[in-house]
Amino acid sequence: MIDLILKGGHVATPGGIVSADLAVSHGRIAAIGQMSSGSAAEVIDISGLTVLPGVIDTQVHLREPGLEYKEDLATGTAAAALGGVTAVCEMPNTKPSTTTAEALSDKLARAKGRAWVDHAFFIGAAAENIDALERLERLPGCAGIKLFMGSSTGSLLVDDEEMLARALTNGRRRMAVHAEDETRLKERRGLVEGGASPAMHPEWRDARTAVLATERLLRLARAAGRRVHVLHVTTAEEMTLLAEAKDFATVEVTPQHLTLAAPECYERLGTYAQMNPPIRGEEHRQALWKAVEQGVVDVIGSDHAPHSREEKAKPYPQSPSGMTGVQTLVPIMLDHVAAGRLSLERFIDLTSAGAARIYGMAGKGRIAVGYDADFTIVDLKAQRRISNMWIASKCGWTPFDGMKVTGWPVVTIIRGNVVMREDTLLGDPCGEPLRFHGNLG
Ligand code: DOR
Repeated sequence: MIDLILKGGHVATPGGIVSADLAVSHGRIAAIGQMSSGSAAEVIDISGLTVLPGVIDTQVHLREPGLEYKEDLATGTAAAALGGVTAVCEMPNTKPSTTTAEALSDKLARAKGRAWVDHAFFIGAAAENIDALERLERLPGCAGIKLFMGSSTGSLLVDDEEMLARALTNGRRRMAVHAEDETRLKERRGLVEGGASPAMHPEWRDARTAVLATERLLRLARAAGRRVHVLHVTTAEEMTLLAEAKDFATVEVTPQHLTLAAPECYERLGTYAQMNPPIRGEEHRQALWKAVEQGVVDVIGSDHAPHSREEKAKPYPQSPSGMTGVQTLVPIMLDHVAAGRLSLERFIDLTSAGAARIYGMAGKGRIAVGYDADFTIVDLKAQRRISNMWIASKCGWTPFDGMKVTGWPVVTIIRGNVVMREDTLLGDPCGEPLRFHGNLG
């Protein structure tokens, strides 16, 4: 029995983009090719549109539990579905932080029936759980371990060399790391302490702060034989180091760091451009693009980090770091595709195949028979303007408000369920936990 046929689209298969229909049965891809409509319960005509494997955003902060005034699992995942994202991996700096099996099951229970997209949660590395990480990372619904080497939003931090080495030897899955050097952050805090322009953010948290941490991480991970994923890489120097470590280190960049640049973004957006690690100058942005071109970058993650407008209105540096991004990842990156900065094939590699590969997700990241029927269906020619009005995140703003883009997600399908069509959510939330090759159960 075929549940759904998508008819007449351009389909991004592992072998290239082909004109084909797609058949879905029991949530999985049943066939790719020419099909007669009569055989299916539902047929959707998608002529002129392009079907990509479901986009997976491997770095989002959804703020539940504890910070629901900024975001919650329902609003954050609704934003994902509206933006063409079919799965998210959520970060542990909630309140309480996700550092125990109980906190993980609490998040999974909260997501049940409320999450619009498939999901998994990171466990945060902390002094209290450092020797239990190997057990924790294998729990069902766990995306792996996230470690903060420098403090950002929340209290999670592992900055001591011995503890860091212990965390790296305790476990097998790829560990996701926020690499900023805490000692240097503290030393330089005086630059902004009494109040400063947000444009000082990349001076305080300078390139050296990021490079020192990444250098140290790579040294310790190499010694421990541990695979690591360096989140939101921002500097030219780190990309050089990471290119020498491709056998064990993978790399994320964000659409913000590829699109915005200092000082212009701080002049225009003020604290709304403030995130950790910071948006830097044009020379670093160019280096990130070069690393995308050269294959050094494995994944694009949005680092969706909502904060309320009231919080962002506080004077710098009391204003919190972070910006929304899960809903704008696809349109911003498709606009780069339209402008010729990356191919559609490379977009797919960075937004779905890469995510599935680096974390070992089962049934995701590829349009192939037997895989989950997760599709991000896009109109590559649509010209649209991103606006705060469109943003479903509770905080209601995007740094890309007003930006004209070419390329837009028009349908989101998760395991055969159509959850978004033409900017409207459909049906009920149907997100389920992601499955990983390294998980128990
Ligand atoms: O800017 C950021 N905001 N960077 C992070 O690492 C954390 C995030 C947040 O949770 O607000």
